[in-house]
Amino acid sequence: MNIEYVKSVIRNVPDFPKPGIQFKDITTALKDPKALSFMIDHLYEYYKDKGITKVAGIESRGFIIGPALAARLGAGFVMIRKPGKLPADTIQKSYALEYGEDTIEMHKDAIGENDVVLVHDDLLATGGTALAALELVQEVGAKSVLVNFLIELAFLDGTARLSSAEDVYAMIKY
Ligand code: PRP
Ligand code: MG
Repeated sequence: MNIEYVKSVIRNVPDFPKPGIQFKDITTALKDPKALSFMIDHLYEYYKDKGITKVAGIESRGFIIGPALAARLGAGFVMIRKPGKLPADTIQKSYALEYGEDTIEMHKDAIGENDVVLVHDDLLATGGTALAALELVQEVGAKSVLVNFLIELAFLDGTARLSSAEDVYAMIKY
């Protein structure tokens, strides 16, 4: 079992959600028991000695592997959500999309100054979502922030926008 196997079970869906987009569909890797456990094991090996105290997953596809990885690392899990879903005091961040803008938010008390936080999402494209999440976690005063993706669309160079993170790691690159 290796990363190449996981890559082989990620489905490419042409022209979704719009013409010209090659959508990387992780549902076919998630339903494969061997690929699912390998992804969690692989990320655990990469992060186990980095002192992570919280994994912050980005809604919604960051809520799949994020909590499983947090449990393996002995860390807590924090939800970074789309607006209006979290019940207590939140901090918000808006970011530009191709057309319009989007907002994500997190509970203000989700992270403290002693936390080493791993921001996790399934996919890095332009980096707009991940940068907003990184800034949220930095603004509440985390000690340090690392960022992880299952997949990076390297040709979009999203990592360039995440240079204030301690570390950025994507398991699979296209
Ligand atoms: C996708 C993906 C990332 C984000 C990446 O989420 O899961 O969160 O877009 O794009 P970016 O790097 O250009 O910001 P999407 O908004 O489709 O929602 P979902 O996770 O709820 O399916
Ligand atoms: Mg998403």
